[in-house]
Amino acid sequence: MGFNKKILCIGAGYVGGPTMAVIAKKCPEYIINVVDINEKRIEQWNSEKLPIYEPGLLEIVKEARGKNLFFSTDIKQKIKESDIIFVSVNTPTKTFGEGAGMASDLQYWEKTAHEIVENSKSDKIIVEKSTLPVRTAEAMERILKSNSNGIKFEVISNPEFLAEGSAIKDLLDPDRVLIGSHLTDDGLKAASIIAGIYKHWVANEKIITTNLWSSELSKLIANAFLAQRISSVNSISALSEKTDADISEISRAIGTDSRIGSKFLNASIGFGGSCFKKDILNLVYIAKSYGLSEVAEYWKAVISMNEYQKKRFVSNMIKEMFNTIAGKKITLFGFAFKAETGDTRESPAIDISNYLLEERAFLSITDPQAIENAKDDLAKSEGKIIFEEDPYKASENSNAIAVLTEWNLYKDLDYNKIYKNMKKPAFIFDGRNILDHEKLFKIGFNVYPLGKRKLTHFK
Ligand code: UDX
Ligand code: UDX
Repeated sequence: MGFNKKILCIGAGYVGGPTMAVIAKKCPEYIINVVDINEKRIEQWNSEKLPIYEPGLLEIVKEARGKNLFFSTDIKQKIKESDIIFVSVNTPTKTFGEGAGMASDLQYWEKTAHEIVENSKSDKIIVEKSTLPVRTAEAMERILKSNSNGIKFEVISNPEFLAEGSAIKDLLDPDRVLIGSHLTDDGLKAASIIAGIYKHWVANEKIITTNLWSSELSKLIANAFLAQRISSVNSISALSEKTDADISEISRAIGTDSRIGSKFLNASIGFGGSCFKKDILNLVYIAKSYGLSEVAEYWKAVISMNEYQKKRFVSNMIKEMFNTIAGKKITLFGFAFKAETGDTRESPAIDISNYLLEERAFLSITDPQAIENAKDDLAKSEGKIIFEEDPYKASENSNAIAVLTEWNLYKDLDYNKIYKNMKKPAFIFDGRNILDHEKLFKIGFNVYPLGKRKLTHFK
């Protein structure tokens, strides 16, 4: 009663859940329903243990849940009741047929569009929240306009730029909000209604409006540019190791150029996460389908460099551990694709684990949030891995530690104690450059940072 807008979000995942929680908090006069086909997920959204870990999320959900924020599986009824529908179902890389391995699989999106048409009794604004290939809105409009019985649907593109681990902060204080629409009277009106939601807490000048196709493409390109920076810096980390340059010094030196900027210049074992690889593959596919093979090849190289970096990290471990790791115990510090999340989708730790297992190493994996996901990711290697939340226990009797996720807790461990309980010579490979390398060397470790000189006790 008394709510002046009825908003629905279809898809209660990493994007839909946090975004709607923040809208509910900032717009108490709107009612927000979030629906999902996955009953277990919805149960979790209604519990104390949410389906995703995100700092600050639980507090916001608890504040709004049951007041103006509701989670359910009642998709049909909620479609009927709503004025605005955000769609944030997943759009994974296609695994079959034409475009397999590259294009987006739009079957969930299409199914959702049909469900919207079949259950709508009044005009609605449909907001694309999932990342979609450019010109998807066109296809969706065709579906929405079929059998619409005179009901009008206006499609808006409003891509999400939140990063995991800082989702709430990114939502509360975004760099920008992007809203793409048709440049018709109806399109512009719908765009201004969506802008009106964000204006509750985002300054006017941060709300960018564009045509539909620019908005759809901007999301892909933002992720492609970010990933490209990481591949660029990682390529130079390989060169630094050969030339005794130091990648952190290079990043600092080039990052002070305001045209380059200092963010996203940390060398790593490679980027992971559900978006970067998928979105670049999508871009490659789109470029190819318009006959732009040079453009496609250019962006493909960003992914190839990422794969190379993961392989290079493992090859280096093997080389430094006397050309064999068979039967050796290697402890992985971190499995999540980045810190402050339990998410392991496309985590570089998955490929690195599999490469190490192929070499017949025995793995011990520790992570403060991602152990359950790691177990699923590596289910086929049961028996060759132990999972242990305590990093001290995890590293007991191991030959080497490899830091794969930049969790702060790994910076503050008692490495004297860890060293004492490891086999000698003890190796540490810092795939995130977060540890105090000099200090570790003094304790007795042979230390291998990324993109800088190694510190070893071997003559
Ligand atoms: C991610 C990306 O962030 C996004 O940009 C991309 O387009 C899709 O993948 P995310 O929220 O992380 O989005 O995906 P996910 O956590 O998998 O959530 C999607 C949800 O949609 C799932 O809970 C799934 O059950 C639900 N879903 C899927 C439906 O409710 N209906 C469907 O038909 C399909
Ligand atoms: C990304 C985008 O940042 C976000 O805007 C978009 O909406 C979704 O995709 P996310 O995947 O959550 O967000 O994480 P992000 O912080 O971008 O990190 C991606 C990967 O790059 C991680 O594996 C991270 O460890 C790695 N990374 C990041 C580096 O290796 N070096 C860096 O300097 C920064």
